[in-house]
Amino acid sequence: MTNCSTKYLIVLLIFTSIFFGFGIRQSQACHPTDREALLDFKRRITSDPSKLLGNWIPSKDCCRLWDGIECDPSTGRVIKLERSGVSIDDSDVRVDTPMSGTLSPFLGNLSSLQLLNLAKLQNLTGPIPFELGKLTNLREMYLGANSLEGSIPSSIENMGLLQILSLSQNHLVGPIPHDLFKKMTSLIYLFFNDNNLSGSIPPSIGNMKSVQYIYLFNNDLSGPIPSSIGNLRRVNTLNLGNNNLSGNIPTSIRNMMGLVNIIFNNNNFTGVIPSQLANLRGLQYLDLSVNSLTGNIPEGILNMESLGQFNVSWNRLSGKIPPHKFDFPASDFAGNTGLCGAPLAPCNN
Ligand SMILES: *[C@@H]1O[C@H](CO)[C@@H](O)[C@H](O)[C@H]1NC(C)=O
Ligand SMILES: *[C@@H]1O[C@H](CO)[C@@H](O)[C@H](O)[C@H]1NC(C)=O
Ligand SMILES: *[C@@H]1O[C@H](CO)[C@@H](O)[C@H](O)[C@H]1NC(C)=O
Ligand SMILES: *[C@@H]1O[C@H](CO)[C@@H](O)[C@H](O)[C@H]1NC(C)=O
Ligand SMILES: *[C@@H]1O[C@H](CO)[C@@H](O)[C@H](O)[C@H]1NC(C)=O
Ligand SMILES: *[C@@H]1O[C@H](CO)[C@@H](O)[C@H](O)[C@H]1NC(C)=O
Repeated sequence: MTNCSTKYLIVLLIFTSIFFGFGIRQSQACHPTDREALLDFKRRITSDPSKLLGNWIPSKDCCRLWDGIECDPSTGRVIKLERSGVSIDDSDVRVDTPMSGTLSPFLGNLSSLQLLNLAKLQNLTGPIPFELGKLTNLREMYLGANSLEGSIPSSIENMGLLQILSLSQNHLVGPIPHDLFKKMTSLIYLFFNDNNLSGSIPPSIGNMKSVQYIYLFNNDLSGPIPSSIGNLRRVNTLNLGNNNLSGNIPTSIRNMMGLVNIIFNNNNFTGVIPSQLANLRGLQYLDLSVNSLTGNIPEGILNMESLGQFNVSWNRLSGKIPPHKFDFPASDFAGNTGLCGAPLAPCNN
């Protein structure tokens, strides 16, 4: 009996020490490479009035004591860096917490990083460091609503696990790198809107098989929409408005069965409105206003059950507006000298 409980005691001791050992490993302190990278990031922040980096003190463990940092407990490697420029105070009011400075290339050394959120800091300037392309474990990158300059580094194309890529509302210029989207088969959100990006949309866009939201509006993009875009079956919203895109709307768009919102206003598209748009059963919003489209409005489109918002104003469309069940205001058809019939004036013949 005593012998037996001694055995149990020994077994218990072994288990306890295993768990204890595991416990020690769980509290792995900040990896020196990552601490160095974060301190270099802090060094290049010239103004931090809200003290977002206030407790980033070298002598303290970055994994446990620095705000906005989360580590993998078994390695001490940083997996999340989250210092966005908006917070919610005790009375649920939105508070802006801007920072000024530039992005450190040392951030590329955070090799286990899965989430990088430095959005809405307003005053982050300078380029997106090429070294960020080393972050191949990144799932989410938010750098929107800053003042970042220069062009999108082609090294970003190595981030094959990305699900969210937001660079919107910055001052980025130059072309979208040719192969940027080649490996981004997991990307769901692509937000590049409100920059000064130029050049054409690379055909590699057709590789983003998981993408649901494509925001490229308010840029200087030119050239045609690559027909490879038809590969993207899951896209809900395709917003290309306010660019300088040209050429025909590709008929491959009929394969984008997930489309709910198509926003192509203020571009330079020519040719006809593809009748195949009527195949998109979930389409709710179609804005083709302010382009150079010609021909008739295809019959099927205006009668789609789902379509709630429609705008083809300021094109070069002609002919009789086809009969339609739903009321669309005249302003949706305005500025097409050749169009006639309700809600515009009756046709002459
Ligand atoms: C981290 O990155 C910087 C710049 O990219 C580099 O100079 C430095 O040697 C890297 N390594 C370590 C361990 O900090
Ligand atoms: C951004 O930086 C500029 C110049 O350094 C400064 O004048 C401005 O106050 C800063 N804005 C914010 C919101 O910190
Ligand atoms: C884009 O460039 C134009 C002209 O260079 C400039 O006026 C505008 O502010 C820029 N827009 C952004 C979002 O940087
Ligand atoms: C629009 O793109 C065309 C070429 O497709 C170019 O000739 C024209 O200058 C561009 N316009 C603007 C406003 O960028
Ligand atoms: C539209 O394209 C034509 C021909 O490429 C070009 O001359 C014109 O400047 C473009 N319009 C705009 C608003 O960019
Ligand atoms: C249709 O587009 C034109 C030009 O962009 C705009 O002025 C008008 O308000 C839009 N109509 C509706 C109903 O939104």
